[in-house]
Parts: sequence; structure tokens; C-alpha cells
Amino acid sequence: MVVLGIESSAHTFGVGVSENGKILSNEKVMYPIGAGGIIPAKAADFHAENANQIIKSALAKAGLTMGDITGVGYTRGPGLGPCLRIGQLTAKTIAAKYSIPIMPVNHALGHIEVARLAVGFKDPIVLYVSGGNSQILGFTEEKFKHYHIYGETFDIGIGNMLDSFAREAKLNPAWGSSVAKLAENGKYFDMPYTVKGMDFTFTGLLTNAVKCLADHDPKDVAFSLQETGFAMVCEAAERALLLTKKREILLSGGVAQSKRLSEMMNLIAKAHSFRMYNAPNEYNADNGAMIAVVAEKMLDAGMQKPIEKCDINQKYRVDSAEVRW
Ligand code: FE2
Repeated sequence: MVVLGIESSAHTFGVGVSENGKILSNEKVMYPIGAGGIIPAKAADFHAENANQIIKSALAKAGLTMGDITGVGYTRGPGLGPCLRIGQLTAKTIAAKYSIPIMPVNHALGHIEVARLAVGFKDPIVLYVSGGNSQILGFTEEKFKHYHIYGETFDIGIGNMLDSFAREAKLNPAWGSSVAKLAENGKYFDMPYTVKGMDFTFTGLLTNAVKCLADHDPKDVAFSLQETGFAMVCEAAERALLLTKKREILLSGGVAQSKRLSEMMNLIAKAHSFRMYNAPNEYNADNGAMIAVVAEKMLDAGMQKPIEKCDINQKYRVDSAEVRW
């Protein structure tokens, strides 16, 4: 199959093409995030304006035309409603016009599977960390084949925490990599650390860090915030690995681009002789190729979705997405 995948759950409009599991192209454009964060309606307008051009360049990079495409996938959720809607409608239009099958894809599953297939891990624990999500996941066949959520954030995603802090600290661009830059040469001081079993919360930590900006060196605040937040998710992932006796740890999602998080997880992996893998940034950032890869797997596994049932779901949880392959 030759599958075109569309990702539009948040600030990125991405289009990728895969053929028999091989990624042929992966093009994208990003809505510029200003001081107000992502404004969903404006990001959706941005996606609609850019959709045609990104599809064209993904096809050109793959050396194909629309007539070569034999299936189309799009991100069903989770994500921002107006943004998801643009990807969904684009995919439905393509499916109808070219009479090809269409497949809604879970965004988290896209990140996980593109990384898992790249490294060839059989059964990893996944530390999935992004703007809106922070979860500890592992594959199970209980009831149906899917990723079970062993632990997750009870409030905001760790990426949102870092982005919110970046805005309060007036960093530009206001996201995690700017916090990482500020944290270089920072010194550690204690911050609220909340892990319950394999679940965690970040709002208390964020509130504390923002307060500390008034009377601490911003470098030290950024460093301590990062160290504390990353240590929390690493502790939870380590517990899940020991509990499930799984031996592989996969880092995935936008925040997995953080070098420091990788370093911390690597220390834990080494201590227990677990195999660890962090996908290239291209696949940890939101992208269309991951949606193409999973849509192709789903279609290959015989999964079908009538076009009129191809909806969006802002709260589509990864543990309800079937992994039939
Ligand atoms: Fe993502």
C-alpha cells in the first residue's frame, strides 16, 4: 500500500507518505506560537491555508502523484477540536475523490509505533511525554490488543507545564527547548515532587516555579523545574518496568526531544540493563509520517472504517485504540 497520513492535532500540520512500512516523505509546517499559546481557531485557519501546499510537497518528495496513493490516514485525536477537524476533512475529501480507504489514527499510537518499528522493540514500556499528554504505557492483550496506561498525569501534560513556564519567564519561543537553554548552568533547589504510584501531577510544581521567578535566578528555577518534572516521570517509568518485568523502554512524544530527559532515562536503563530507545526528533515532534505508518498497519491488518463514521475525538485515549498487528 501507499498511504498518505495527515497530522493536525495541535500546532503542526504534517503530511507523510509510507509504502509497505517505509517512510517516503514527511513534510510539515508549524503554526507560530506567540505569547498567548496556541489559539485553536487560529491554528485551524493556519492548517486550512497550508494543507494543499504541504500535501503537494509530501507527494513531490516521495516522487508520487495523488493517483499513486492507495489509502489515507488522519489523526482522530486526542487534540484540539478545530485543528483535528481540518485534518479529518482533508482526509475525507481525498478518500472520497480518489475512492480509497480511510483510517482514523490515535495520535499517541502514531508516536509510539513509528519509534517502536524503527528500533524493532517487541514489548516496551513507553514513556510518552508531549504538550498535552504524559503517560506510562505498555502493550497488553487483556480484553483486546492495546496499550494499557500504567500511569499518567492527573492534570496537565509535562510539555504544557514547560511551555506555560516559558511564557511566564518571557522566553521566546515560549516552549520546552527555551527552558532547557535557560536551565544550562542552573543550580538545583528543592521543588514540589508529586508521584503517586505511577501517576503524577504538574500544576503544583508549575505554580511553585512561577512564584520562584520573583526571588530566584531564572536559570536556577528553570533547571530545578526541569530536573524535578523529568525525575517524576522517570521514577514512574522505572516502577512500571519493574512491575511488568518488561525489559525495553521507549521515549516518545514532543518532550522526548529533551536531551536531559534522555540522559536521566538512560541512567535508569543502564542501572537495570534495560534497552532504551529515543526516536529521532523528526518523529518525536508531531508529524504526518507516523500517522501514515499506523494507518497502513491498520489497513493491512484488515481494519476498516466507513467514511461516514470517520469522526474526531478530542479525548481519544490510547488505551481504547486497537493494536491488531
Ligand atoms: Fe504529539
